Amino acid sequence: MFLFPSRRHDPLPLPYSTEVHCHILPGIDDGAPDPSSSLALISRLQEMGVRRIIATSHITEGTFPNRRATIADAYSRLKAEADAQSVILPPVSLAAEHRIDDDFLRLDSQDIMPLVGPGSEPTDSPLLLVENSYAVQRADLDSILFDLRLKGYRPVLAHPERYLYYHSHRDRYEALHASGTLFQVNLLSLAGYNGKDVRKVAEWLLEHDYIDLLGSDMHHLRHADALKEYLTSSASKRHFNHLEGRLLNDSL
Ligand SMILES: [Fe+2]
Repeated sequence: MFLFPSRRHDPLPLPYSTEVHCHILPGIDDGAPDPSSSLALISRLQEMGVRRIIATSHITEGTFPNRRATIADAYSRLKAEADAQSVILPPVSLAAEHRIDDDFLRLDSQDIMPLVGPGSEPTDSPLLLVENSYAVQRADLDSILFDLRLKGYRPVLAHPERYLYYHSHRDRYEALHASGTLFQVNLLSLAGYNGKDVRKVAEWLLEHDYIDLLGSDMHHLRHADALKEYLTSSASKRHFNHLEGRLLNDSL
């Protein structure tokens, strides 16, 4: 069988310089396990064009019971390692990827950590990165998102393309987006890293102009390798052309 070689080009830079979704802080979720690993991930992001980082460690009931203090401690360990290795860190601010679970509903307001870029002042309506369970959408999701907006947050649903239960209910994407929930799609989903179905839905969201932010959702070096590969593909060029001028990443 004759196979056409897929067209490749020099790696494009990421279409943003502010990373809004990554797990680079050491030892507090399923991202970097230790400070040296954190530095390796940061270095890979910088190679791809990232200049500012909003670190979004998980806050998930039972699995990753982080709070502002545990996240700040992890950053201190990262900073100490950077200093020890004479590495200059890019500007980093601390936020979270909040799982919408019962713990989230009980969080003190001081432990709700919106997406505020390093060096930026918090706005009156900060963006808040939230994720659904992968198994099932909560029945009260819409009312929780509504309450967040009443409190002044603009919810950003992390990787909407990864919730398989929405794939055959695309009207849910339309309804969520129309009601004011922003969407952050993972580059690795557009790359096909999470499978063909997820890639198809990510491209559907792109074509319908539902992508407000992109993120690497970087957890480990395998993600960095897959992302680098994607940046040389013809698909990345097509995706980034479509998204030009639309992403909110660098406004944070
Ligand atoms: Fe994440």
